[in-house]
Amino acid sequence: MRLFVLSEPLVEFCKALKGTGHTAPNPRPQACAAPPDCPPKLREYSRPTGGSVVGAVNELSDGVVTLRALTPTDAEVHLAGEDEPTVRFLSGGRSTMATVLAWIERNRLSREASGPVRSFGICLAATGTLVGVVEANLATPGFRPGVANISYGLYPGARGHGYATRAVELMTRHLVDCTAAAIAAIQVHPENPASARLPGRLSFRFLGERVTAEGERMLTYAKALRQPAELRLADVCQP
Ligand SMILES: CC(C)(COP(=O)(O)OP(=O)(O)OC[C@H]1O[C@@H](n2cnc3c(N)ncnc32)[C@H](O)[C@@H]1OP(=O)(O)O)[C@@H](O)C(=O)NCCC(=O)NCCS
Repeated sequence: MRLFVLSEPLVEFCKALKGTGHTAPNPRPQACAAPPDCPPKLREYSRPTGGSVVGAVNELSDGVVTLRALTPTDAEVHLAGEDEPTVRFLSGGRSTMATVLAWIERNRLSREASGPVRSFGICLAATGTLVGVVEANLATPGFRPGVANISYGLYPGARGHGYATRAVELMTRHLVDCTAAAIAAIQVHPENPASARLPGRLSFRFLGERVTAEGERMLTYAKALRQPAELRLADVCQP
């Protein structure tokens, strides 16, 4: 049974989505309908698994990982963590110090303008060590309004501990609390099984495969953020 139908008109069709896009500019910052009651400094989130999550607008934590905005001082660590899978599936090309710094600056501008790109570093809560990045883009070309496209990456030494899954869960909570996004989507390249295992851990549903404007096949997963919904691929992106 279809419990939830998106009634908003479609915008541009699903072109490519290429993760955090270190080598390509983010969309021009624009207001993205963040509700006016976006949480102030700290708030506590109840978790389906029990316990709570305490976080601020620009910092969220579940006690194991913390999401925080990257600053230029993170650029060196971030650049060092870029391996071949990251280049292929996330960055969209080999980064340099200049492109990473420019990407961090674009994210700052988007954040400060309540723009469409919500980008966070993933840190270990116990030590503060930066281990990866997670990003939601509310203006990914080809996606319907209200769809937040989540991408993620961990530096090689941090994989295999569940940190990316935790980071994406925190990101979905940020989207609920600080944006008007109705759906979270994850796009996975068919040759990226490590990434494809993540959405199912967080109850994202596999909706199908699409071909981007660049001719890339992408497995598409999605999850309704605000109310139960039996989503279809057409709810996420334009035909
Ligand atoms: C995609 C990517 C982030 C996945 O990393 P990951 O470490 O496998 O993902 P998680 O951090 O969620 O960890 C889950 C893994 O840790 C294991 N794990 C170990 N201890 C764990 C714990 N305490 N809790 C949860 N999982 C744990 C899980 O079993 C799982 O391994 P499995 O998939 O072999 O079963 C990583 O491969 C990456 O950075 N790739 C390059 C960039 C990329 O492809 N990004 C995706 C574009 S959208």
